[in-house]
Amino acid sequence: MNFREEYNRKLKSLDEILYLVKSDYEVCVALAGAEPMDFLGRLHEIKDEVQNVSVLTCLNMANYKFTSEPDMEGHFINNTWFYSPLTRKAHQNRTASFLPNHLHLAARQRLGYRRPNIFVGTATPMDKHGYFSLSLSVTYEREYIEAADIVILEVNENYPRTYGDTFVHISEVDYIYESNRKPPELTIVEPNEKDMIIGNYIAELIEDGSTIQLGIGGIPNAVSKALINKKDLGVHTEMFTDGMVDLYNAGVITNKKKTLHRDKFIATFALGTKKLYDFIDENPAVEFKRGCYTNDPYVIGQNYKMVSINTSLQVDLTGQCCSEAIGHLQYSGTGGQSDTAIGAQNSVGGKSIIALYSTAKNDTISTIVPMLSQGAAVSLSRNDVDYVVTEYGVAPLKGRTIRERVRNLISIAHPNFREQLKKDAEKYMIW
Ligand code: COA
Repeated sequence: MNFREEYNRKLKSLDEILYLVKSDYEVCVALAGAEPMDFLGRLHEIKDEVQNVSVLTCLNMANYKFTSEPDMEGHFINNTWFYSPLTRKAHQNRTASFLPNHLHLAARQRLGYRRPNIFVGTATPMDKHGYFSLSLSVTYEREYIEAADIVILEVNENYPRTYGDTFVHISEVDYIYESNRKPPELTIVEPNEKDMIIGNYIAELIEDGSTIQLGIGGIPNAVSKALINKKDLGVHTEMFTDGMVDLYNAGVITNKKKTLHRDKFIATFALGTKKLYDFIDENPAVEFKRGCYTNDPYVIGQNYKMVSINTSLQVDLTGQCCSEAIGHLQYSGTGGQSDTAIGAQNSVGGKSIIALYSTAKNDTISTIVPMLSQGAAVSLSRNDVDYVVTEYGVAPLKGRTIRERVRNLISIAHPNFREQLKKDAEKYMIW
């Protein structure tokens, strides 16, 4: 087989690729760091040729005109499994719509409803056997490659070649275009004092030998710093982060005590800085597995002492967490929050932890509330939260009645709001 000839035959210019998109198509693209940014960055150019194109994304990395410009309405709709700050803006133009999901079921549920006409992903250059690596994400990409009528890859030598379920053969690909842009990088914000207080409370809950998952947001970065004195931690996570690289280099993460995939990091996507991308490049210690596997609560639960650590925006006095909306407005997504928390519940010695600041908007509002705001989505059921942590301490919820939960949650609310919370609990008979 001469794979190079096949490659050259399939190689097109981005101009030619763009015109493969037709009216009423569903075009799915890879997640976040693996987003085909050149394709999305120029999609608006065919606006006048198409109508009603669904562009299915997850955590947009740039301010793409096809969704940010108000005159795209009717031509493109950015359907997405996870809002980023950029999608929040597009939402106001009616050019974005949220697709509710638990991440491990995202692909299966959408595919059960609608077949993709086109999938576009980002991949590393082809090897001598004809394989590309999907690099930064296999959350749903493999399923969409298997289901799409047309599979397109942006081939880019700047992306890390990762191992696991990441490989795609040239025979599965219809068209290729090449790019040499750099992968998007997250700005890592140094944890502030409040983050570190929360990180240290969480570190107290994590025993040596635990396997951890860290979610998206500022607090999980602080948690990785607070774990520096732990021993033999393992990682089974949806998102692979810079903090995990630091803990590995410091000898804290060894993956040696894991009861599933011993000696390996397991993740489904990576998002961070060049340090992270260099670490996962051709690293046999890291396996990226499909989201339907990595985030399956029954798989996660096979890890002994599995600890999930995620962040929320609002928690009610019974423990219901809204982590993806501010009132009725979509803010982010459920992602794997519920998957990983239920997984931790399934694990022997596991713990599911939710962390948040006790207040928002310069201490003017409490994030611990008697009832979630009108229209807020419950991202995580109160049945699946073991601990809620703020800068005022740890509220254990597992096995606790509503009365006990109210008491524990009020004790970690900001002192300015505790009396009012007590009155509200009485008024609404939350006991
Ligand atoms: N009411 C109003 N505003 C609130 C609020 C509340 N109850 N709680 C927080 N906010 C505001 C904050 O003040 C802040 O606004 P600012 O940027 O103007 O200061 C904003 O909401 C939250 O800050 P942000 O920096 O966007 O949060 P983050 O990056 O730390 O992410 C989540 C926090 C909860 C949005 C994020 O973790 C998430 O989407 N989680 C759900 C998915 C998940 O956990 N997946 C897990 C596997 S990766």
